[in-house]
Formats: sequence, C-alpha cells, structure tokens
Amino acid sequence: MQISVLGIPMDLGAGRRGVDMGPSALRNAHLAARLRELGHGVTDLGDVDVAIPETLDKLETGGLVFLDSILHACQSAAERVAALPDGVFPLTLGGDHSVSMGTVTGNALRGKAGGARMGLIWVDAHTDYNTPQSSPSGNIHGMPVAHLTGLGDPHLTGLGGGWHMRPEDIVMIGIRSVDGRERDLMRETGIKAYTMKDVDQLGMTRIYEETLERLSSTERLHVSFDADALDPTVCPGVGTPVPGGLTYREGHLLMELLCESGRVTSMDIVEVNPILDTRNQTAEVMVGMAASLLGQRIM
Ligand code: ARG
Ligand code: MN
Ligand code: MN
Ligand code: MN
Repeated sequence: MQISVLGIPMDLGAGRRGVDMGPSALRNAHLAARLRELGHGVTDLGDVDVAIPETLDKLETGGLVFLDSILHACQSAAERVAALPDGVFPLTLGGDHSVSMGTVTGNALRGKAGGARMGLIWVDAHTDYNTPQSSPSGNIHGMPVAHLTGLGDPHLTGLGGGWHMRPEDIVMIGIRSVDGRERDLMRETGIKAYTMKDVDQLGMTRIYEETLERLSSTERLHVSFDADALDPTVCPGVGTPVPGGLTYREGHLLMELLCESGRVTSMDIVEVNPILDTRNQTAEVMVGMAASLLGQRIM
C-alpha cells in the first residue's frame, strides 16, 4: 500500500501547550521506517501551515478560543487529504484532536463529490462531543465530533460544504471522561460509545465485532486515535490524562483486528504531547499502534 503522512502541528485547540510537536515526535519515533518495514511505500507530505499562538489574540471570532486559525488549519488539512488519489492511505498526525474536523472531512470527500458514507471509529478517553455552549473549557479539541455531525459553531460545521457524519456511523471506544452537558448531548444522538466499563465487561474482541457489524453499510472506515485513550502509564505524554484507560494490548488488539477487517482506509494519531512525555514513549507507542493497524504481525 501507499501511505501518505501529513502533519498538522497545532495545539490551538488544547488547553495546554505542546501537542503541536506531536508530528515531529512521531517522525522521530521512526514512523516511516516502521511502515516501510511492513512493505508499504511511505511519502511524507510534510505539515499543514498552522498559526503560531504567540502571534494571535487569544480570543478570535465568536468567543471560541483560536477559532479562525483552527478553522483555517482544518480547511487546509481537509483539502490536502481530499486531493490524495484513491488507494492511498492517509496517515494524519496531530496536533490536538480538533485537527480531525479537517482530516475526517477530507477523507470522506476523497474521490467522491458530496462525500462518501464513512464510518468513524473514535478511540479516546473523551467523547469530544461538546458544543461551544456545552463546553466547560472553550477548548475546541473537546468539540470535533459534535461539529462533524453538524452541531455547534456554523464556521466549523461548514467545513466540507454540506457534508456531515451520520451519528449512527460513529463508534467511540475507551470512553471514561464526559462533561455534564456533553453527556446530555451524547444521550440525544445515535452515536455508540463503548466506555471503559464496556471494555472491561465485554472485552475488545466483542466490541470490535459489534463495531464492524454496526458500520457494515459504510463505504470506508476512518480510525481517529487519541493517545489519551490508552492508560496514562502507557501514554504519559498527553494533555488531558484520565486514569483507567486501555492497556497496551487492548490498543494493539483493536488495531490488529481492524487491520484484518481490511476496511480501514485512513487514520489519525492525535494528542501526543512531547513536553509532558517520558523519553518519547507516547510517540513510540502510537507508532506501534499505527504499525499494527497497517499490518504488523507478532508472527
Ligand atoms: N471534555 C473536556 C473539554 O471539553 C476535555 C476534552 C479533551 N479532548 C481531547 N481531545 N483531549 O475541554
Ligand atoms: Mn480526543
Ligand atoms: Mn481524549
Ligand atoms: Mn460540516
């Protein structure tokens, strides 16, 4: 397979600095070499241009923190991804999770005017389903899924023209931190969320099987993997750590099973924060997750 790597070095959507260095940390963890060892062709497209926070006024349009600049970076990411030829696997590197408003949109629009019916597997401690009204923080990285479904700020929901995710085509795995009003919003949608309690009770294999069944009428699958889905002992370099996360093996098993499905056509790795990390451990773990999704086998 041909894999195109694209970085979105943005921390404007997060409450803490540092995830803008995520793409560098992942490249330094030998991302391209690991994927080439699996027999893939890897092209690094470099990074999308992202504004430097020190050059900006903190509050831009609409009271949302850094809205204009985030919108611009997401638009660029969406265009870059959508322009990739069919058959190429886009591997997009965040950046905070607001980048996925751009990458998911771009992947849905790739090769299909008006957008494909795409399934979204959101691996995360958080549901990231806040709207500007429900958010306790104002940080846009807590809002991408709401905006992908058409809920929230009209500038951000306008990404990709009229295309939106269908809530029933979204499955979340690893959830253990949801804000009060965000929970109310989640209850009103058709999004399926597997919490850590579900992971404990059902096990990852069953969750994988149910997920694939649920997304069986979609044309392609996108995996958006937030490093904070994994337990903070596995991935300490994240800005919003929550105890009680996925184990190293649960993460790999999910990626291995998704690889076997042959249905995943794109992936994000987001929220890797080298400032908070221990010797680049989080980037190394996340490169391993990408390798498992892209064909690495134990034997
Ligand atoms: N729910 C919190 C908020 O809205 C935290 C979101 C964390 N999101 C993330 N992508 N790490 O601010
Ligand atoms: Mn997230
Ligand atoms: Mn998260
Ligand atoms: Mn939209």
